[in-house]
Parts: sequence; C-alpha cells; structure tokens
Amino acid sequence: MTGKTSNQMWGGRFASGPDAIMEEINASIDFDRRLFAQDIEGSLAHAAMLADTGIISAEDRDKITDGLNTILSEIRSGGFDFSRRLEDIHMNIEARLADLIGPAAGRLHTARSRNDQVALDFRLWVKEQLQKTDAALTALITAFLDRAEEHADTVMPGFTHLQTAQPVTFGHHCMAYVEMFGRDRGRARDALARLDECPLGTAALAGTGFPIDRQKTAETLGFSAPTRNSIDTVSDRDFALEFLALAAICGTHLSRLAEEIVIWSTPQFGFVRLSDAFSTGSSIMPQKKNPDAAELVRAKTGRINGALIALLTVMKGLPLAYSKDMQEDKEQVFDAAETLELALAAMTGMIGDLTVSKETMKAAAGAGYSTATDLADWLVREAGLPFREAHHVTGKAVALAEQHGCALADLPLADLQAINSAITQDIYSVLTVEASVASRTSFGGTAPVRVREQIAWWRSRL
Ligand code: ARG
Repeated sequence: MTGKTSNQMWGGRFASGPDAIMEEINASIDFDRRLFAQDIEGSLAHAAMLADTGIISAEDRDKITDGLNTILSEIRSGGFDFSRRLEDIHMNIEARLADLIGPAAGRLHTARSRNDQVALDFRLWVKEQLQKTDAALTALITAFLDRAEEHADTVMPGFTHLQTAQPVTFGHHCMAYVEMFGRDRGRARDALARLDECPLGTAALAGTGFPIDRQKTAETLGFSAPTRNSIDTVSDRDFALEFLALAAICGTHLSRLAEEIVIWSTPQFGFVRLSDAFSTGSSIMPQKKNPDAAELVRAKTGRINGALIALLTVMKGLPLAYSKDMQEDKEQVFDAAETLELALAAMTGMIGDLTVSKETMKAAAGAGYSTATDLADWLVREAGLPFREAHHVTGKAVALAEQHGCALADLPLADLQAINSAITQDIYSVLTVEASVASRTSFGGTAPVRVREQIAWWRSRL
C-alpha cells in the first residue's frame, strides 16, 4: 500500500500516509538544529583542508566558505527555513548551500559522511557543555568556600543516620560539598581530556581514499589529534555517556545538598533560612515558606539519571559501526545539560543567599550528648583507660545525664567520680561543643584550624 491517505487501522494521528510517518520518525532536524554552529565550523575546516590538499579548488573553497558564513548568519538571525523533508541539520545546511552557490556545494561532502560529521558536531557540542559545567561547578565551589570561611567556627551537630553524632563546624560541612563538587569538576576535566580527538575524516566507517589531512582538521577544530580507528569513531558515543554519567553523579550530589537544605530550613531544625528569592509562600497557609528551589533541584536529578539510562540502553547491544539508533543520543544530552546547568545555577544562588542561624545550630550541636566521645577520649588520654572501657564508663554517664534530664557538662563531679574515680575537674574542659570541634585536629578533621587550611588549599587550586 503506497497511498498518501492515512492508514485506517493506526493512522489516526497522521495527516497522510507512510511517507509522513517515515518523515516523523526519521527527521532529527527539530532537535539537531542546535548543532548548526558546530556543523558549519566542521564544514569550514573540512573545505579548507580539501583545498589545501588539492582535493577541491581554492575557488570552490571560497564559494563554500562564503556560502556557509551566509547560512550561519541566516540561522543566527532566525531567517533560515528548516525543513523536515531534509531530515537533519547536515542536509538542511548542504541543501541551502546548493541554493546559494550552485554545484560547488556538491564538493563539500567529498571524503566525508554524515556519520563522521554528526560525531564531530556532537562532540564539539558536548565539549562546550563540559566547559560550561566546569565553570558552573567552579562558581558553586567558590560560593561554598565563601560560606565555609565565614563559618569556620560555627558549631553545628554532625550527623550519622541523621542522628546527632558529634559536633562539627558548618564550615567543615560546607567543605564536604566542596570535595564532592570538586570531584565532579575533575570528572568533567577527565571527560574533556578523553574527548579531545577529532572524528572528522573517518567518513562512513572505513576512512577514505582521498589524500585528506586529518591532523590539519583536528588542529583547526581545536583537538589535540585525530581519532585512531575509523570504525570506532563513527560508532562511539562514550563522550556523551561520560557527560551524562558525570551529570548524574553531580545531580546526585545536588540532590543530597537540596535535601539537607529542605531539612535544615524546617521550623523543627531552623538551621538556615532561605531568602525570598529561592522560596515561595503557600496559597492557603500564610505562615509557610517553602523551599521550592531546593525541592526542584532534588527532583531534577531524576531527569538526568533518566537520560543516562536512556542513552546507555540505546547504545547497549548496537553492532559496530553507525546505526540510526544513535540519532536518539541528542535529546537526552540536551535535556540533561539544560537541567544540570539550571540546577547548578539555582544551588549556587541558594548557597550564597541563605542565612545561617548560628545560635540554633550551636544549641542543637550540644543536644543528644554529642560530646560523649570527647568524654571517652579524655578517659583514654588522661586516665589511661582502654577505649572500650572508656566507652562503657561514658555510656553510664550518658545514662545518668538522661536520668537527670541534663547535659553531660551539667553532671556534678561527684556523680562522675562515682562512675569512675579517675575523673577530675579537667573533664569539663572537653565537654563543650567548642572544645570538641577544636580538638579534632587530625588532617581532614573539623577543627577550625584544619578547615581554614583546606579552604586555602582549594582557593589556590581554583
Ligand atoms: N541525523 C543523523 C544522526 O543524528 C546523522 C547521521 C546520519 N547517518 C546516516 N548514515 N543515516 O545520527
């Protein structure tokens, strides 16, 4: 059946017959038009190389170059007519080039295929996005460093199992995120280094018999070298998968931070207050201030993770080399990239903006017998008890404080001495939250002096 009318059984949503359906499933122009600048950049480099190597004439190169530059401004000014009939960005541009310069346009595709062309375009796009991610992460890290500096001495409860564990400083907690986002930045840089090989000139999959200069195009396009295997080059989307993987890990970090902000800004915690810029009110409950931006960052991680799984699934089991399946790579990456960019910007704004309630944090830091470990450590250090025994003695002190409904520091010396006679007045010097954090001077520990060193180390690295 070749008629143009819609199929009776399943063609309800199509205006016409199989041709239209084919066009709808096949065309990528609706989304790959975003690659126009990369596509033209690649074609300009290719045409220049073809002329340098004598494969096309200098005259044709000049016509091609002028035509491509015209197309670039047409697209930029919104005056370009994209056509689904022409499938994708590559053929849309080539067809327009033929309109503009005539038969010389037909020489541009010598020693090239859409397979290496799309591999190049997409790689260039991902490269730029990785650089943007790097810059956005640097901004977020800088926001955290500023807060960490400001709060190097601000005591807060440290948690394990979300139960009060030991006092830490808010500066130290901020620096934990600096480490996490610092690793994300490292992953972006690693991906950039691996992506740094130029696909152009591998042609359909086997290379070409024309005497092209791949070194030259690689250099023109800002890559260190050409890729080494033509089959791998046109079937590889690792650079996109790596971007999505690092985006998913970064998104996961952002979601943990978002969750902490949500928890910290509840009236029950009250550790931080979000500015009006990053929260909303409730349409029914006048007292409410909702951490919407943080909640949305927490949620957007789902989209990024989805994109990673989607592309992994597209690539899984694909035979070498190019298959049309791979056209499904772009939308996932575009969406994840936009999502990550927005989430990073929102989080950078929130971190710079939030108000820290030092008093609330400090009060919470002392609750829940958070300095019990300090008591045990004192018994080990000053009274020579084995740690296990010190742990046991401290447990009794905690039970006693619980019975009295008081803090460890409020237990009378006589009561403590009744538990262990080695205890002296000196014990009280380690039971405050300030003394506790100041004592954690091991490398990487929460003592303000160590945290300040880490801040300085990161600042010198950025
Ligand atoms: N639109 C295609 C894509 O995005 C370009 C490559 C087409 N290659 C081909 N042999 N049909 O993957």
